Amino acid sequence: MNLVNKTKKTFALTTPLYYVNDVPHIGSAYTTIAADVVARFQRLRGHQVLLITGTDEHGQKIQRSAESLGKAPQDFCDEIVPSFVSLWKLLDIQYDRFSRTTAPRHGAIVKEFFERVWESGDIYQGQQQGWYCVSCEEFKEERELLEGHRCPIHTNKEVEWRDEQNYFFRLSKYQNKLTEFYQLKPDFIQPETRRNEVLSFVNQGLQDFSISRVNLDWGFPVPTDPKHTLYVWFDALLGYVTALLEPDAEPTLANALHTWWPINLHLIGKDILRFHAVYWPAMLLSAGFPLPDRVFGHGFLTKDGQKMGKSLGNTLDPVDLVKRYGSDAVRYYFLKEIEFGKDGDFNEVRFINVLNADLANDLGNLLNRTLNMVKKYCAENNVPPIGNETISDENPLKTIGLRLGEQVKQTYEQLAFNQACESILLLVQASNKFIDEQAPWSLYKQGQQQEVEKVLYAVLESVRLAAYLLSPIIPNISSDIYRQLGFGINFNDQIETSLNAPFATHAVWGVLSSKQKLGTPQPIFKRIEQLKND
Ligand code: MSP
Repeated sequence: MNLVNKTKKTFALTTPLYYVNDVPHIGSAYTTIAADVVARFQRLRGHQVLLITGTDEHGQKIQRSAESLGKAPQDFCDEIVPSFVSLWKLLDIQYDRFSRTTAPRHGAIVKEFFERVWESGDIYQGQQQGWYCVSCEEFKEERELLEGHRCPIHTNKEVEWRDEQNYFFRLSKYQNKLTEFYQLKPDFIQPETRRNEVLSFVNQGLQDFSISRVNLDWGFPVPTDPKHTLYVWFDALLGYVTALLEPDAEPTLANALHTWWPINLHLIGKDILRFHAVYWPAMLLSAGFPLPDRVFGHGFLTKDGQKMGKSLGNTLDPVDLVKRYGSDAVRYYFLKEIEFGKDGDFNEVRFINVLNADLANDLGNLLNRTLNMVKKYCAENNVPPIGNETISDENPLKTIGLRLGEQVKQTYEQLAFNQACESILLLVQASNKFIDEQAPWSLYKQGQQQEVEKVLYAVLESVRLAAYLLSPIIPNISSDIYRQLGFGINFNDQIETSLNAPFATHAVWGVLSSKQKLGTPQPIFKRIEQLKND
């Protein structure tokens, strides 16, 4: 079956499909923010983007959570799902598909996929014995466990012994193919540390894994033997495929894979790396489909240096955080302060300091005071009538501005969001320094009008460029800046953005024109007061 019909200009990416055993936590928000930033960047680049998110609703973990509340699993899922949808709205996430694994059309995709793998001879019945962590929905090796048979990830949970008839997927058969693939595509698993983890896991020898459960109702039946229920991960990974279906398309693999496959990027946390970088490609090889381009495993968030958890009582509620500080603030902090791929920490004092320093002071004040100077020193409240060519390439801001777009493009492509922010902030800081050194107020007194205008133009253009390049991360603030600079562009409006502000024309130096009427200076980010008890 020739399924792939992908044009060059498409970019499909996924967040994990989140378990609905509880309302979303900051970890889910973190991955989703990062995915949204990538999607927004790719849209600015002119690509047609499909951002997939959704929920993973089957399995023992969800069944037990529902039971503990005396609810039917489907009702329980239906009650939790809206909390994800509303958080993504609060965080300005522009997703294109929300994939729920309990959707009937997903059942059809899973069935067809299972049948293909069955036809390849990669499914057989066997006896599964081992330690199972319900929270991970994963069997663990005895040597991985902590004292008292506790899971290394869910350290307060004991694993459970299982000894049952299961269907197995012949993962071992794909050992060589996978190894070859990792060599051929060294960028498939990122960052490098995660790639090395996977390589060493695969080198130890792959074992077949069970893809069905008995004594569990909450899931899809195994098509060839309905007494068994399909393992939640087998069904969940395929949620990415179901999500590719057009809303009114018949749920077949051919339809699902037609336009967007292979997926360009799976963004995940490091704890679910094996599923995405080993099991998933092997399943796809078995079904005869091309493999995704890239899997990026980010690190874990801690709070005040400690692992977050309900038992520790130190969870960070993303809804509360956004309601208190706004979506741009939350998005900016996590991407600027944490190297994507490494573990990172949330500390509220630090959070406030970073936002005040970067967004309120460096960026916000710069725009504000420059706009006020234009009002005061220039005849009209327009961008000063300076042709970009009259500003020398030696001008310190232009020097940075001329190469910043390309540099930031590369950092976004590498998902080095913190580096993107830092490079952009360098231009902002240089602009503050430039204005202090050039002292347009003195130039004005000396009657050097053209010099005043050159300085103000260079600074406004720098703020514009910074706002544009930061727009995937802080779309609201960037829109505000663009409005104050006289553009009618809103970075939260997908259609307008892609038509009006593509990367090729806005990520370059010298875009501002004197035809633009400047808006009223208004603070773009209000300083946050320090916490009372600090
Ligand atoms: N349902 C599976 C994914 C299936 S994908 C086909 C799952 N869901 S989850 O809700 O438990 O986790 C979702 C994501 O949240 C994972 O990528 C995980 O790494 C991430 N995080 C969970 N806790 C986290 C932190 N404390 N910090 C950062 N991310 C964390 O796994």
